[in-house]
Amino acid sequence: MANVIIVGAQWGDEGKGKVVDIYTEHAQQVVRFQGGNNAGHTLVVGDEKTVLHLIPSGILHEGKRCIIGNGVVLDPKIFLEEIDGLKKKGYLKDDGQLLVDGAVNLIMPYHRAIDIAREHKAGGKKIGTTGRGIGPTYEDKVGRRGIRFADLLKPETFARKLKDVLPEKNFYLENFLGEKPLSESAILDEYLAYAERLRGYLGNASIEVNLAIKAGDNVLFEGAQGSLLDVDHGTYPYVTSSSTIAGGACTGVGVGPGLIDAVIGITKAYVTRVGEGPFPTELHDEMGEQIRKTGSEFGATTGRPRRTGWLDIVALREAVRTNGLTGLALTKMDVLNELDTIKVCTAYRYKDQLIENFPADLDILRDCTPVYEEVPGWQQDINYVKEYEQLPAKAIDYVEKIESWTGCPVVLVSVGPRRDETMVRKNPFA
Ligand code: IMP
Repeated sequence: MANVIIVGAQWGDEGKGKVVDIYTEHAQQVVRFQGGNNAGHTLVVGDEKTVLHLIPSGILHEGKRCIIGNGVVLDPKIFLEEIDGLKKKGYLKDDGQLLVDGAVNLIMPYHRAIDIAREHKAGGKKIGTTGRGIGPTYEDKVGRRGIRFADLLKPETFARKLKDVLPEKNFYLENFLGEKPLSESAILDEYLAYAERLRGYLGNASIEVNLAIKAGDNVLFEGAQGSLLDVDHGTYPYVTSSSTIAGGACTGVGVGPGLIDAVIGITKAYVTRVGEGPFPTELHDEMGEQIRKTGSEFGATTGRPRRTGWLDIVALREAVRTNGLTGLALTKMDVLNELDTIKVCTAYRYKDQLIENFPADLDILRDCTPVYEEVPGWQQDINYVKEYEQLPAKAIDYVEKIESWTGCPVVLVSVGPRRDETMVRKNPFA
């Protein structure tokens, strides 16, 4: 029996969906604990591509219980669209496969409107959010003004809470953001219609997950976004509004930390970032463009081109520490196939100092320049390699260097989007 947390070890989009999909084979439950439909997990089964924003990736495996924990924020419209899309493809035959905790906070139309209008108003100072209403929803949750999934299923409670909160939202929208106010009756009609379809998914994530663990099941906790987007430990304020690091799994579901056996951080063989904020190893040249094209680095949620850069070990070590990573899963290694030389940032230079720890102060981080080590590229197609030992020596050398620089073992190597383009070196469930 093992309970494993999977987190992004960079700024998101590390290929978590695929790794979760592979590990799901060993788990009976897959649980999301934070974020919302700002995430976009792309999964390829056979030749069919499925993009999931909210529902745990484990849903593609029949019989696996998929749970949305209290730490998640849920847009009911998107959730229902995702359910319909999955059913159309023949998944989710049994609705009992999916459970939503009653304490999940709902993304409301005013959250989306505020998110978008604020970004617009901020101009050059924007965060570059996904515009899905994530930040404003978490603000209301912490401000104790949120409307929860369980409230939606009680029409009178939902109507009362909406009536209480909407005047303040409309005041802010109209008088500060210069937007149109939203209609209470329109929101009520829209959301109560959703409620009828959602009733069957209500449950208690903490009870379900703890019961499963007691019964000896394996549980996989599926993180979204990445460690450097964590609201406390990321590049604040250029972060998302939830706890993306492993500790978030405990608060976002209601499980004790002592029940966690392994924490796997997903990292690409290079780095990408969407939205604004510092990115020390960012490439603004043809190499950056080549990585973007070869790696198809365009957002799964917003379609935005991702910023690209060399692997940043300083940032990765931060993720190893804040998450207590027990293993790294290295993805998209094949994107570097053609390069004769690969650069890796192993320290930063700040003024005349050499820095090995990721600076918490953004003003310092902004002025850091990367110190690179050059590693020879393998310059051959590795997509067809099935066993780690059969990788070219230079590719193995790249993996081993990452292990020695971070002090964390690489337990999985991915060389393509498909399930069979993966080398599992150590199974965290074993
Ligand atoms: P928000 O989560 O929409 O509030 O966006 C805040 C920041 O997190 C922005 O820089 C987004 O681009 C980034 N972000 C949010 N979700 C993801 C994700 O799933 N992958 C990568 N970046 C993300």
